[in-house]
Amino acid sequence: MQPIQELDPSRRSPETQNFEAALKGRIVGQQEALAAVVDAYQVFRAGLNPTGRPVANLLFLGPTGSGKTRIVEVAAQTLFGDPRAFIKVDCAEFQHSHEIAKLVGSPPGYLGHRETHPLITQEELAKYHTEELKLSFVLFDEIEKASDALWQLLLGILDKATLTLGDNRRVDLSQCVIFMTSNLGGAEISEMMTGKMGFVQPTEKEERMDQKINRTATQSAKKKFSPEFMNRIDKVVVFHPLRRDQLEQVLDIELDMVQQRVLETARSQFVFHIETDAREFLLGEGTDIKYGARHLKRAIEKYLVYPLANLLATGQIQFGDVLTVNNDPGNQRLRFFRESGGALVPAGGPALGAFAQVAQAPGGRAVNATATPNPADAKSRPAEQRPVAMPAPAAAPRASDQKTRRGSL
Ligand SMILES: Nc1ncnc2c1ncn2[C@@H]1O[C@H](COP(=O)(O)OP(=O)(O)OP(=O)(O)O)[C@@H](O)[C@H]1O
Ligand SMILES: [Mg+2]
Repeated sequence: MQPIQELDPSRRSPETQNFEAALKGRIVGQQEALAAVVDAYQVFRAGLNPTGRPVANLLFLGPTGSGKTRIVEVAAQTLFGDPRAFIKVDCAEFQHSHEIAKLVGSPPGYLGHRETHPLITQEELAKYHTEELKLSFVLFDEIEKASDALWQLLLGILDKATLTLGDNRRVDLSQCVIFMTSNLGGAEISEMMTGKMGFVQPTEKEERMDQKINRTATQSAKKKFSPEFMNRIDKVVVFHPLRRDQLEQVLDIELDMVQQRVLETARSQFVFHIETDAREFLLGEGTDIKYGARHLKRAIEKYLVYPLANLLATGQIQFGDVLTVNNDPGNQRLRFFRESGGALVPAGGPALGAFAQVAQAPGGRAVNATATPNPADAKSRPAEQRPVAMPAPAAAPRASDQKTRRGSL
């Protein structure tokens, strides 16, 4: 007789482990949400998802800019190779019941029947399927703004995994994970958590605070949503406001993505190194307690990507260059320095005149990220704020440094 063997039900399959690792690499904190998404994936992979219901109905609550939408994008990117590989229904766009035609298409015979393309169709769901993975994601964003008619559709989807289109075609959503997001309770949570510095402060009572956050969000949801809706949810996940150290990690991830963009699609490939003061500046501009990391991307585009585009377009950065970026205190912008063959030379129009010599020195060249250099500016600034030429070996980013900043390069 074979000996009885104890099994390990907590072990994940290799592909699920990879999926989990990819999510962890891009999503900061929000462990519970990560676990919910990974569980749903593992259940689907094992073929144990219920018949006649979606694979999972997940409700994400919590403050703005905490990763509710991002986690779906990262999951889509990881599994289907495109962060937009899911159907997104902005419930705010369907606040009036007649707008529901945009979602399901109008019935035949109605004016405009041919022109309305339903948002959720079987073809649309299958669009990103791969040979091995016939799973789809549907995201209903800001569900608290949905009209009654949309609620009825949503209830049908959550319960029976079917949607009837305007022309009576049926859409089967049993191979879908349904994500729903809502800001309900988010404002109260942010208020509860505001620390003196405007960021969430870690406290010794963190665990109690976590419970309070969960309670606040779930109570708001229960107040707003009907019991029949809440009963159809497999898991309610409360997203927590990001702490200061977590916002820094989000910044690292976003900068990493810009660096990848530069290496994959820019006209000339180069690497950049963001100094601590520049990181502080970007964090200050892109994050706060009220909006979490919501504006971080925008700040990075404005203060880093646009100037980089100018530098590239004007030939000031070339293939293989190494840039160092630091803050320009008091001027609401960043400064860019290019290392070239032994010298790190200043960027920024103001100093162009003053650094003509450096610019002409062999291997050294000033790069200017602004459109209209103003030489007078350089003189009016204190000496320590003026860009200075620095010897490359000391100032150039070290390989090890860059690895930490650009983990995936
Ligand atoms: N936990 C996180 N991990 C990684 N990045 C995050 C996280 N939270 C927020 N971000 C960053 O902030 C941006 C905005 O986050 P996201 O769109 O997920 O907010 P949200 O929680 O859906 O907010 P809203 O309720 O306003 O829609 C993301 O694109 C991402 O760059
Ligand atoms: Mg969102």
